[in-house]
Amino acid sequence: MKMYRTHNNGELRIENIDQKVKLCGWVQKARDLGGMTFIDLRDRYGITQLAFNETLDKDLSAKARKLNREWVIEVEGVVKERSSKNLKINTGEIEIEVEEFTVLNESKTPPFTIENETDGGEELRMNYRFLDLRRTPLQRNLMLRHRIGIETRKYLSGIDFLEIETPYLIKSTPEGARDFVVPSRMNQGDFYALPQSPQTFKQLLMVSGYDRYFQIVKCFRDEDLRADRQPEFTQIDCEMAFVEQEDVIMTFEGLIKHLFKSEKNINFDKDFPRITYTQAIQRFGSDKPDIRFGMEFNYIKELTNGFNFKIFDDAESVIAICVKGAADYSRKKIDSLTDWLKRPQIGAKGLIYVKCNEDGTYKSSVDKFYNQKCLSKWASYCEAKNGDLILVLSGNTISTQKQMNELRLKIAKDLSLYKDDEYSPVWVVDFPLLEKDEETGNFHAMHHPFTSPKPEDIGFLTSHPEKIRANAYDLAINGVEVGGGSIRIHDRDLQEKVFTCLGFSKEEAESQFGFLLNAFEYGAPPHGGIAFGFDRLCALMGNQDSIRDFIAFPKNNSGKDTMIDAPSRLNEEQKNELGLIVKQ
Ligand code: AMO
Repeated sequence: MKMYRTHNNGELRIENIDQKVKLCGWVQKARDLGGMTFIDLRDRYGITQLAFNETLDKDLSAKARKLNREWVIEVEGVVKERSSKNLKINTGEIEIEVEEFTVLNESKTPPFTIENETDGGEELRMNYRFLDLRRTPLQRNLMLRHRIGIETRKYLSGIDFLEIETPYLIKSTPEGARDFVVPSRMNQGDFYALPQSPQTFKQLLMVSGYDRYFQIVKCFRDEDLRADRQPEFTQIDCEMAFVEQEDVIMTFEGLIKHLFKSEKNINFDKDFPRITYTQAIQRFGSDKPDIRFGMEFNYIKELTNGFNFKIFDDAESVIAICVKGAADYSRKKIDSLTDWLKRPQIGAKGLIYVKCNEDGTYKSSVDKFYNQKCLSKWASYCEAKNGDLILVLSGNTISTQKQMNELRLKIAKDLSLYKDDEYSPVWVVDFPLLEKDEETGNFHAMHHPFTSPKPEDIGFLTSHPEKIRANAYDLAINGVEVGGGSIRIHDRDLQEKVFTCLGFSKEEAESQFGFLLNAFEYGAPPHGGIAFGFDRLCALMGNQDSIRDFIAFPKNNSGKDTMIDAPSRLNEEQKNELGLIVKQ
């Protein structure tokens, strides 16, 4: 039997000197230094330097000089100590004095460099994803993903969770996005939907008695894409029976702590802080607050009223944040922040500032209306000291909170108010059960329709549905919504009432969710669960914003895989078989 390699390219050390070895890999780069030719041989484990000495073997050196980037070769040689060591890489003290090599396959010149920093644009790299994936940063990301998957399975199996697969060809589960649908050949005219999550199946598993379930599972959602959203993404999906919210939160806080310990050697000694949804919106303008830095919201409407400044007088809310030590922000910088806030994506009308000068005076864009005494009241309310900058937005409360959230996050990023490896988890609890669509007046589920209302709020179901709080919780880390879940309804009557509140007729509820309602009549235990965005968790631990770099074959912003050209047209025969006529 042929043995291609005895070692990988990240493995050999000074201890291996004089050993005869065989290696395989890709030619990363070649250097010709007169009588010596050096080649960096790469595989996913690292890089090993190959040395060809013309005085030892002229023909072999000549052959080596013909090797090009990304050719695949197999070499045999002896490990030698390097004269000029490269301590930046693990194998940097040795090199292989090559005695023989074979070209296993040649390569066309790659369309971009296979280096940590590549010269290839996004589109090109997506078209040649198999080459992009050879780059070390992406290989590191996929290895991190692998480790987090393994640790998740170890941890959860260790506390009696069973990994159980659920089907992909299902009937729609409403989780707020559109479904991807799959036509059925055997049942022409009928369609499966791909699951937005295994939500109803994991609940059925609870009814079946599998009281601790998890699955690392693909979910499919047809929604607009962003850096942290893909049309098919992966969840660590979990469900437990005989639990209350506290049990679920503590179990999965344990999982997250374990993952941070194993992957990053970070210990969270204390329980993760918790904040209610209402507080999160009030203090940070976001249901996934980044609590690594301060700049919490101050509501100063009362202090601004009655000074003939119409914009504040007419506003529902006037919200200020204090930026520590930023009184030296230039006019230009503030103007550019203002322009940034006025873009349609954010939609602020303007930005007011107050600089708290070092000499104790105030300089403000509204000092025509507010004298020094007034401004000092604002400053003391916002706990601003000399040298700080106060930034103020005003208008309708909900929009102003959203705009201020954007501003707060931007400033923190601009001023580097956090370290890369700093992680601040926070549970956001007591989400409202329902959200009102201001245009149609209809209610829809904030989490999903199976979420249980807080028992003390059930009375509001017919009178004030918007006041009902849910037993629902999200975990945010550094401003990223990493996971979310809830205690579920396990009672047919209550589930029917919630469906009614969501505008389903009895018949609609029966036809869409009859199977679940039916199951609730056969001994459904109290249950609840959570799902984590696996891709997001990986990106977060890898200190990157885009989840795409943690997915081997992701889709682009238009939901396409340009390498395989998907989605694409069906041919006539396929359409006939499926009974489909496509509108042009
Ligand atoms: P939810 O819809 O909150 O809950 O999803 C759980 C987590 O999945 C991640 N996520 C995504 N990641 C990448 N791309 C997307 N398009 C995307 N959408 C969501 C987020 C999110 O927190 N069935 C419920 C869970 C439950 O109640 O147990 C659910 O799916 O990190």
